[in-house]
Amino acid sequence: MAYLNENYFKLKAGYLFPEIARRVAAFTSENREAAARLIRCGIGDVTEALPLAAREAMKAAVDELGDRATFRGYGPEQGYSFLREAIAEHAYAPLGCKISAEEIFISDGSKCDTGNILDIFGSQNRIAITDPVYPVYVDTNVMCGHTGEADEGGAYGGLVYLPCLPSNGFVPALPLEKVDLIYLCYPNNPTGATASYEELSAWVSFARENQAIILFDAAYEAYITEPGVPHSIFEIEGAEECAIEFRSFSKHGGFTGVRCAYTVVPKNLMASSADGKRHRLHPLWARRQSTKFNGVSYPVQRAAEALFSPAGQAEVKALISHYLGNATLLREACVAAGLEVFGGINAPYIWVRCPEGVKSWELFDRMLQEANVVITPGAGFGAAGEGYFRISAFNSRANVEEVARRLAAMTW
Ligand code: MLT
Repeated sequence: MAYLNENYFKLKAGYLFPEIARRVAAFTSENREAAARLIRCGIGDVTEALPLAAREAMKAAVDELGDRATFRGYGPEQGYSFLREAIAEHAYAPLGCKISAEEIFISDGSKCDTGNILDIFGSQNRIAITDPVYPVYVDTNVMCGHTGEADEGGAYGGLVYLPCLPSNGFVPALPLEKVDLIYLCYPNNPTGATASYEELSAWVSFARENQAIILFDAAYEAYITEPGVPHSIFEIEGAEECAIEFRSFSKHGGFTGVRCAYTVVPKNLMASSADGKRHRLHPLWARRQSTKFNGVSYPVQRAAEALFSPAGQAEVKALISHYLGNATLLREACVAAGLEVFGGINAPYIWVRCPEGVKSWELFDRMLQEANVVITPGAGFGAAGEGYFRISAFNSRANVEEVARRLAAMTW
């Protein structure tokens, strides 16, 4: 008899975004007219063309594969050194971070890496997550059996929830109890908030004092346009002894479909075995990747490398300014409608408070039915997300302008 992983039974019905897609499909199948008018501002999926620099590099790489003399088979599991070196030089050195190419692991996505990283951690860790939160951090811990059952509000036993509210600027206070693994994401998904140097320094000190590890998701760092906001946890002194950072080409390079990301596991980062001995995590992650992963395709890694070229950088800048321009329009439209808004300045997400007494899935239904606009209900990101909704700025300008008109036409 084959037995299944019963932890999956603890998961809520569907992963948030497929669940939204299911509800939208049910609505549009019965409303042809609404289907034609539908504008999706739910999942944070890019809409604009892939940068030319990336496309050209990808095509040239494909041609190399078409010639026996330059053909390549399996690549290094950790990623080609040309890409890892480009990341160390262009993404970390300018920030003053001493991250070497050997500490960078190329992968096919930060979503996968933030889930897969649990392979190298023990099951006795006490896990802290922000609330609201990117649901992958929670669900992957549920799947591994690191939690109890969910309560009626969807909070899982065994996890330490760190509320992120307007009152703390969506940066959680340090926990009063001991925790071992801490998920932080800044610029934040879903609230669009950023964390300051002081706030991240407090977390790094806490982690070092408690021999805890911060799993820092920086997938949206390229959207930071204001000065004085940290782009990487490794800008904080001592973070290389207590943090892993996840970054991606998805949101600023238009790579959500192309797939390329990277994870930094510093060589100095240690964790304990049950006997209390300290061990480096870098060889464990290298071992995990070389066993379970065969790397990202060569043309894709060449395309990612090209995003660091001067031409690639100019195109990335234009993409970010397009999406942040959308975010400004959406923010203004929400403010004009009398709603309270957060985020959307250093992030492609706008976090909006629902009108008094309206629940976030109710608002999702209203927006779908009355405005034919898909948003993400805050409750899908956790209990503290109830009473909020998220609008994604990843869209064409014309669509965003139309969303702004529809928000203005609704009765709030
Ligand atoms: C989101 O909408 O939160 C993101 O697109 C999800 C993701 O990047 O996996």
